[in-house]
Amino acid sequence: MEILILPTPADVGRAAAGVIAAVVANRPEAVIGLATGSSPQGIYRDLARRVDAGEIAFERARGFALDEYVGIPQEHPQSYASIIARDVVEPLGFDPSLVQVPDGRASDLDLAARQYQAAILAAGGIDIQILGIGTNGHIGFNEPTSSFASRTRIKTLALRTREDNARFFATPDEVPTHCLTQGLGTILDARALVLVAQGEQKADAIAAAVEGPVSAFVPASALQLHEHATIVVDEAAASRL
Ligand code: GLP
Repeated sequence: MEILILPTPADVGRAAAGVIAAVVANRPEAVIGLATGSSPQGIYRDLARRVDAGEIAFERARGFALDEYVGIPQEHPQSYASIIARDVVEPLGFDPSLVQVPDGRASDLDLAARQYQAAILAAGGIDIQILGIGTNGHIGFNEPTSSFASRTRIKTLALRTREDNARFFATPDEVPTHCLTQGLGTILDARALVLVAQGEQKADAIAAAVEGPVSAFVPASALQLHEHATIVVDEAAASRL
């Protein structure tokens, strides 16, 4: 595991974008695991700048979102399908037909999860997975006690996650209770991982993930088992290391 500690959130976005840009420069048809949330926004901004400057292109790259809420329409501004379209596909110039998000509206969610997992395999697996981290140490929506062997499936959101994400919804009751998420096993299958975190509110989760024991109680500690994991944090998120 490589840990980069940088002065500011903007530095984190730039450095992590550099890791992804290197993969895409080497393999324009790379399969990229896409995270939502506030943490990776700086990555997408810096990658968009590189696209605008003609340094890289994503038109041949494939994308698989990490997770999706269950039960809100795809057109909802906070559905991960909307966020990926708005913050990633459009500014980076992905071909929308090459980007998938789990179908949180499927009538058979188990089947949708299995099909999503199969689609990742059929694409040859994920070359590089972008990750944020929850204040409770979750990655994707793999809440504490998730199995390290889990693949894409339905999960119940932890109360803390629903409270953390309430800021994106009009009322706390509107925050969905369930999701589809790539599993910890799916994430560990990716050939490279890059996790970003900024701010003091992530400091405990980062310390537990990086320096604590590998434990299902801290899903992000699974990164300690991966051969090519890079963690990029600002000084505030690194303050308890
Ligand atoms: C969200 C997402 C995660 C994300 C995490 C942290 O709910 N499912 O993929 O990494 O929680 O979010 P943020 O980056 O907004 O702090």
